[in-house]
Amino acid sequence: MQLDNFNSTDLRDPRGYSVKWHYHPQDVLPLWVADMDFPIAPEITQALLERLQGRIGYPKQAGDTQLLEAIIAEQAQKHGLTGLKPENLWLTTSVVPGIYAAVLGLSSPGDEIITLTPVYPPFLNAISDYGRVLKHSPMLRGSTWEIDFEGLEKLVTPATRMLMLCNPQNPTGRVFTRDELERLAEFAVRHRLWVMSDELWANLIYEGQHLPIASLNDEIAQRSVTLSGPCKTYNTAGLGGGVAISHNKALLERMKRATVGVMGHPNVMSMAMWLAGIESGQGWLQEVLAYLRDNRDFLSGFIRTQMPQVGYLAPQGTYLALLDFSGFPFAKEVYKVMLEQAKVGLNDGPPFGPGYQGFLRLNFATSRNILQEALERIVKVAQSVD
Ligand SMILES: Cc1ncc(COP(=O)(O)O)c(C=O)c1O
Repeated sequence: MQLDNFNSTDLRDPRGYSVKWHYHPQDVLPLWVADMDFPIAPEITQALLERLQGRIGYPKQAGDTQLLEAIIAEQAQKHGLTGLKPENLWLTTSVVPGIYAAVLGLSSPGDEIITLTPVYPPFLNAISDYGRVLKHSPMLRGSTWEIDFEGLEKLVTPATRMLMLCNPQNPTGRVFTRDELERLAEFAVRHRLWVMSDELWANLIYEGQHLPIASLNDEIAQRSVTLSGPCKTYNTAGLGGGVAISHNKALLERMKRATVGVMGHPNVMSMAMWLAGIESGQGWLQEVLAYLRDNRDFLSGFIRTQMPQVGYLAPQGTYLALLDFSGFPFAKEVYKVMLEQAKVGLNDGPPFGPGYQGFLRLNFATSRNILQEALERIVKVAQSVD
């Protein structure tokens, strides 16, 4: 249905709503912020129009029961996170406020929080913004990005309170395996850490199976809060919406208390969109996933043949790829070089954690034509600048 649209060379947002296309000058191809350039599922558009015919008054504070039940069923059927009731879910205005609520509710100033880097920058900001102490465990690069389990053990002190996990991982695209998650869960339980697992990308994976860490056993379920939301799956970031899920209701209560008065109530349009996505957007999602997988493979092939000097490990999920230009003479300036000379807008590495200067994050959720043109511009500049 939409594939012709996906292939269009001109996916610019003509109305100017999208920051992705309106942050840089017009001649820059924007492959940065994590939005897809594709139109949303027609079923979602329809549901939003229908919802507008009704009242837009205050919703129930806990959220629409139908949506809560749909999220519970999706978590159980797609991801194997079972045994949830509506009271195990807390709807948040979007996912980032859930990250901050977890830091505020599950730790105190001065506590240490461990996270694997590189990672989505708000993880790092949430830790430092509220006076917690960042303990970062850089992932190792083998045949894929790997968890440094020995390094993790060395990071723990009596002040370590929490592990913040991003799975599937932004920006590396890793989808952690059962074995890795079991080791992480054992680590968290043994050190009595709370676990915040941001699983917002769970529906966008190409290989393997997404596994919520909280689904592994009761012990880790009692220590975990899982965050999810609709925006990556359905390309609806502008509508917000998120959920914090825990089998341990006391953890949700702590997060609610820590953010009382600032989280706001659920948004009715966001809930209508999310429900329509779960109930009627799965055909659209399958088409999008197939297109993204092909783009991922195209990107992998392009780097292998045209830019083999660029460090790259193919993402297993997300539509993000981390490119390592640190071996290039212009590594320190790579973001600026690509923006000003190649006219491609990417995300710079340093916000993803200490040690990622020379890295760029590329968003491949665009038409193949735009992706190809951007890569050709990048390779041309990479070969010419020294
Ligand atoms: C891991 C992760 N969490 C949260 C978000 C943002 O979620 P929201 O827009 O719902 O706050 C993103 C956006 O890219 C993300 O990659």
